[in-house]
Amino acid sequence: MSDGSHAEAAKLSSGLPGLDSMLDGGFNRGRVVLVLGEPGTGKTIICSQYLHQGAARENQHSMFIGMNEPQSRFMSEMRGLGMDFSALEAKGNFKYIDATDVRRIPEQAKVGRISVGGRELGLVNLLDTIQDAIAKFEPDRIAVDSMSDLVFRFPSVEERRPVVLDLIETLQSTRATSLLTSELLSTGEERLLQPEEYLAEGVVLMRTLRKGVRTIQILKMRGSKVDTHPRPYVITGNGMEVLSTEEVY
Ligand SMILES: Nc1ncnc2c1ncn2[C@@H]1O[C@H](COP(=O)(O)OP(=O)(O)OP(=O)(O)O)[C@@H](O)[C@H]1O
Ligand SMILES: [Mg+2]
Repeated sequence: MSDGSHAEAAKLSSGLPGLDSMLDGGFNRGRVVLVLGEPGTGKTIICSQYLHQGAARENQHSMFIGMNEPQSRFMSEMRGLGMDFSALEAKGNFKYIDATDVRRIPEQAKVGRISVGGRELGLVNLLDTIQDAIAKFEPDRIAVDSMSDLVFRFPSVEERRPVVLDLIETLQSTRATSLLTSELLSTGEERLLQPEEYLAEGVVLMRTLRKGVRTIQILKMRGSKVDTHPRPYVITGNGMEVLSTEEVY
C-alpha cells in the first residue's frame, strides 16, 4: 500500500527524470500505458526502473509479471543495472509473478476430460494469476512484460483485439498504475497500428535508429500535455537515461 503522503498525487514518477519531463510529471495514476518497442530496446529495463522507483523511493508495492524470463534471471540482470530487487522483495515492497508457463501450454489442452484451446487456456490462466496476485499484494505499480508471447498465438487482428482488451481491462479494474510491454511488429511511416495501441490509454514507443541511436517517443497519453518529439536515450551500467532536452539527428 502507498504511504499517505503519495496517495493523492495525480502523477507517478516513471523513475526516469527525462521521461518524467516528457510526461509533464509522470504517468497518470490508475492508467494502463503500453511500452511498444523493437527487440532489445530496453522495454524490460524501463519497467524495472518504474517499479524500482515506487518500491525503493516511495514505499509503494510494485509487482512484475514476467512472461519472458524466470525471476532469478530478471533479478540478476537488474542487479547488473544497479537495482537490487531482492532487498525490496525482502522488505515486502516487490513481488515477481512468474508467468512464463503461459507460453508452454500446448495448442490442445485438457481441463478434466474436456479438450480446450491451449491459447484460450493460457489467457484465462494469466488473467486469473494476475487477479489473484493483485488481490493478495495490492500493488500500486504493475508491469506486464511482455504480452507478445501470449497475443501472438492469436494470429488475426480480429482474434487478438479481445485478448488485448481482456488484459487491459483486468489491469484497469485495479487501483494500480500499469505498464504493459509489446513488441513492435513493423516500423516506418506506413507501419500498421497494433490493436493494443488503440486500447491502451497511453503509448510510449522505443526504437533503435540506423547508426544505433536509441529513441523514445510518446505517441499518446490521454488526459496529459506531453512532449511528442522523439528523444534520445542511453543505457549504461546505471540503467536508462532519457535526454529529454536533446533532438534526435
Ligand atoms: N550494463 C549495461 N550497460 C549497457 N547497456 C546495457 C546493460 N545492460 C543491458 N544493456 C542494454 O539493454 C538492452 C536490453 O534491455 P532490455 O532487456 O530491457 O530490452 P528489451 O526491449 O526488454 O529486450 P527484449 O525484446 O529482448 O525483451 C540490451 O540490448 C543492452 O544493449
Ligand atoms: Mg525484455
